[in-house]
Amino acid sequence: MIKPVLRMGDPILFKRAEPVMQFDTPELHALLQDMDDTMRSKNGAGIAAPQIGVSLQVVMFGVGANPRYPDAEQVPYTVLINPALEPIGAEMEEGWEGCLSVPGMRGVVPRYSQLRYRGFDPFGNAIDRTVSGFHARVVQHETDHLSGILYPMRIRDLRQFGFNEELFPGQQIVDE
Ligand code: NI
Repeated sequence: MIKPVLRMGDPILFKRAEPVMQFDTPELHALLQDMDDTMRSKNGAGIAAPQIGVSLQVVMFGVGANPRYPDAEQVPYTVLINPALEPIGAEMEEGWEGCLSVPGMRGVVPRYSQLRYRGFDPFGNAIDRTVSGFHARVVQHETDHLSGILYPMRIRDLRQFGFNEELFPGQQIVDE
């Protein structure tokens, strides 16, 4: 079911999410279905459970050919539960991000270029990947949601934060 997406300012988005204790339950699958429906309805690259008001450590992401990120690398569709991130090296890179909870805007955010992430799929199977570039960026953005961090809180130069229409005039950017 498509759920309303909480927007920046809602206190739930600033909370630390609780870990999932039981996998493969009807409740977890229902949550994942709602997240998936909501993300797809908004053409999002990812979504975290707190964005639909559920303060659990559950994120999903995936980028095929997404009109929001026309030049972006593709990212495999992934459900990631109770994630743990480990940066590889100190190198960071800046890149544009948007968020379903900050609709109509974009900002330049520094992220680790490379990292290892671990967690679980909906059935409790372990996930362990080493990724870089846009995949690494998306994982960092989504897991930040579970710590109560929204991307504008990481922007270094607020001149590189603004409305899509002003930043990218004439470009077709699907609103999240
Ligand atoms: Ni977001």
